[in-house]
Amino acid sequence: MSTRSILLLGAGPLQLPAVRTARRLGLRVVVMDFNPRAPGLREADSAHIADIKDAAVALQIAREERVSAVLSVCTDYAVRTVARVTSELGLPGLSEEAAERATDKYRMREAFLRGGAPSPKAIRVASQDELAEAAARLGWPVIVKPTDGVGSKGVTKATDPAGLELAWRRGQAVCRSGVLVCEEFVEGPEVSVEGLTWNGETHLVAITDKITSGPPYFVETGHTEVSQLPAADQESILDAARRGVKALGIDFAASHTEIKLGAHGACIMEIGARLGGDRITSDLVPMATGVDIFEGAIRVALGETPDVAPTRGAGAAIRYFLPEPGTVVKIEGAAESRNVEGVVDWVLDVEEGGDVPPLENSLTRVGHVLAAGATPTEAAGRAERARSLLKITTRR
Ligand SMILES: Nc1ncnc2c1ncn2[C@@H]1O[C@H](COP(=O)(O)OP(=O)(O)O)[C@@H](O)[C@H]1O
Ligand SMILES: [Mg+2]
Repeated sequence: MSTRSILLLGAGPLQLPAVRTARRLGLRVVVMDFNPRAPGLREADSAHIADIKDAAVALQIAREERVSAVLSVCTDYAVRTVARVTSELGLPGLSEEAAERATDKYRMREAFLRGGAPSPKAIRVASQDELAEAAARLGWPVIVKPTDGVGSKGVTKATDPAGLELAWRRGQAVCRSGVLVCEEFVEGPEVSVEGLTWNGETHLVAITDKITSGPPYFVETGHTEVSQLPAADQESILDAARRGVKALGIDFAASHTEIKLGAHGACIMEIGARLGGDRITSDLVPMATGVDIFEGAIRVALGETPDVAPTRGAGAAIRYFLPEPGTVVKIEGAAESRNVEGVVDWVLDVEEGGDVPPLENSLTRVGHVLAAGATPTEAAGRAERARSLLKITTRR
């Protein structure tokens, strides 16, 4: 049998593990990324420099390279492209309608409402007047966000009319469509659920506990694998995720469902029709459960049945470094931090003299530490100890 080819959209650091996994599975790997320095380009069998949002180019490449599967991992940018190409070529993948619902935060809310999946009340707003009216109807506080955002960019909690002004400006600054969503604010612990769906059947692999920077901008600052929430809460989270995936019509794809456990139970923040980023699917899930979801997603894209049964019960955690914004004057304790028992990866992207931006979205985080443990609590303790040993002094 001749070697099968897979087209992977995106070849950045988040997608590199998918390139390696596909090669390990004996596939010929074709990649596409607009950045000529993307690390996955060098490791692929065939590399194309092109925008992963450009479905026409992706389709042409998929045809020329005669691929048997098309996949994008850990980014929302290529979800519609994957759906377009797989639909056109008759390959396993998401329908274009499902891809649209999964990449438009208002259409997603409508689908959840129709499908009986728990989700906050939301109103689409195209002007500041509409936003003021929506907030008055929903009641304070509210969350304002772009319909097409990622990485918490332009997501703001507003507690009064004055707060809406800033929320509108932040949302508009990153929104391509100009349309924002105003929604009920849900208070409570946050988790994500990683899933794989094939033949319309959804397998939920793991629940991850999250730490965010909280109001007003909600940037993710840590993840612990697997969730330590009580079993009854986990049941309600899994039920919500399953309903949400179904409501969006995800039948052949991975899913990353973000849920808050509010006063009325599990409530879906959003669902990405793709694997989770932030090292969750590449590292935390395999470290804690033994499940290789990258391999699973590749097998689903090939039309095969993946193996998602857990083979271990350990723990893993990531914590992002959180220095005060400003110019870095001194970095101390890096060696001690790296050497904490259980630390498996340690990344710092700023140096002395460099700048720490205000923590406003995922891209403004400056580094992280990843730790393993026999239990989630042990892993989290190790990652937190490593983080506390690193002292980054900044000056405004
Ligand atoms: N309705 C809401 N109630 C409470 N918190 C919310 C709400 N919507 C979003 N958030 C918080 O903001 C974060 C980012 O919002 P999200 O819709 O996931 O946008 P993004 O696609 O940018 O990640 C969520 O993970 C959550 O912490
Ligand atoms: Mg999100």
